[in-house]
Amino acid sequence: MAYKAPFNYIGNKYRIINEITSLFPKEINNFVDLFCGGGDVSINTRACHIYANDINYHVIDIIQAIQDRPITEILKYIDNTIAEWGLSKSLKENYLRFRNHYNSSHSKNPIDLYILMCFSFNFQFRFNSKHEYNNPFGQNRSHFSAKMRANLITYSQLISKIEFTSCDFRQFNYDMLHDGDLLYADPPYLLSCGSYNDGKRGFNGWGIGDDLKLMEILQGLNDKGVNFALSNVIEHKGRQHRYLIDWATKNKFIIHDLNINYNNCNYQNKNKTTNTREVLITNY
Ligand SMILES: C[S@@+](CC[C@H](N)C(=O)[O-])C[C@H]1O[C@@H](n2cnc3c(N)ncnc32)[C@H](O)[C@@H]1O
Repeated sequence: MAYKAPFNYIGNKYRIINEITSLFPKEINNFVDLFCGGGDVSINTRACHIYANDINYHVIDIIQAIQDRPITEILKYIDNTIAEWGLSKSLKENYLRFRNHYNSSHSKNPIDLYILMCFSFNFQFRFNSKHEYNNPFGQNRSHFSAKMRANLITYSQLISKIEFTSCDFRQFNYDMLHDGDLLYADPPYLLSCGSYNDGKRGFNGWGIGDDLKLMEILQGLNDKGVNFALSNVIEHKGRQHRYLIDWATKNKFIIHDLNINYNNCNYQNKNKTTNTREVLITNY
């Protein structure tokens, strides 16, 4: 059974976690989850040391806040805040008042952002160009459910020893990686969907230049004897990621097909019949 992070993070790998981790080496010393999002892969990976990074500092702030305090204290804070602001699945006004309060407070509490996310549409982190949280209300659907509470409790235990950072993948310290270590990279997919945040904040501006830089970094790790596993989509809606396919083929990296259809990752994507090839590329 796989563990689920207490978020509904866009692009999270929960639905294919067993396929991914079954392709990881059996023994891992240092494990790096370079684009960790909500951390679904990190919490399901066994390694001596786990390092998880994501440029989205909002989610990393929340995770570190969960790490910093006993879970009983966090749950008490969540329950009190929900009661104080009258948050529920149906009361939009109260959600908007709490969102205003969060956006206008100077020292923003990451757990408040977590609570907001729990009551928001599709449980997403969305911000406008003024750095204000602007996800709409999740009418009749989103709330801090018993399932999320249970996931949060388990999560707080699973992340206790994971080291989280928030930086661009170009700034990550790769010098720490050696033979016996594994770097897992799950970047935004060039060909398919995934809106992680407001593009203006720089979380979502993923282009071919980023993919090429990442390939260069992975190539360097390969030369050092470090194992890597890269998640990606190499075919989508009739388009192919030629750079990635050619790079993997030329270097004799292994392209593992993952047995799922990725089309329904975006509720707006009406074309559910188009073929999508989601893969894990490994150098081992
Ligand atoms: C496919 S999602 C990762 C999902 C994650 N594996 C999970 O299971 O939740 C891609 C992630 O890359 C992050 N990201 C985008 N650009 C980045 C960059 N330049 N450096 C580091 N992280 C970045 C996004 O914030 C997003 O969380």
